[in-house]
Amino acid sequence: MKHILSAIFLSIVVGLAAATNNLHTAGRSVQTCGDPDDTLPWYRVSVPSKFAYAYGTDPSWISTVILQDGFVLQTILGMVFLTQEESTVPCYFLSSDVLADNFVTINATERDAAIAGGQYFLRTDLQTYIYPTEICGSIPMYRLYNSAKTSNFFTTSESERLSAISGSGYADLGIAGYVLPAGVAC
Ligand SMILES: *[C@@H]1O[C@H](CO)[C@@H](O)[C@H](O)[C@H]1NC(C)=O
Repeated sequence: MKHILSAIFLSIVVGLAAATNNLHTAGRSVQTCGDPDDTLPWYRVSVPSKFAYAYGTDPSWISTVILQDGFVLQTILGMVFLTQEESTVPCYFLSSDVLADNFVTINATERDAAIAGGQYFLRTDLQTYIYPTEICGSIPMYRLYNSAKTSNFFTTSESERLSAISGSGYADLGIAGYVLPAGVAC
């Protein structure tokens, strides 16, 4: 009898330990997210005749490129962080004056290769932080490339992505990262 009781007691303890362990595992797998209140709108500006696109969060930078460099404001790609928060990664901004092209990447190898190639330089003042996977309510940011125009193009709009491919000579390079949809933070 004593043995049976202690066996029952033991199985309860083991069962409880397993349940607690499951809770911990579940806790660890829960997404940890940046604070959406810290995000800013990421504007896309363009000189359409040059197939040139640029991306920034700073309204004074936006107005400068509009007034001085002939850019027009096109859209808000989404919401991004300016400092690194939970689960986000740096999104590097590469710029080429020679090619009149800019692109962003979370891939440090691609960043370094572009700089080593001599045509692009790093704009740390335009660096943002985004999610590398589709977590925390984020949405895909598509990257497209027009090799004839040496033009990188980023969009979070599926219809824009499709029309760039069908109408403007862009090839789909896949998903560059994930941003929060515009209008989530207030
Ligand atoms: C990062 O970029 C390099 C160079 O373009 C490429 O070979 C590599 O596959 C990329 N890595 C990822 C994870 O996309």
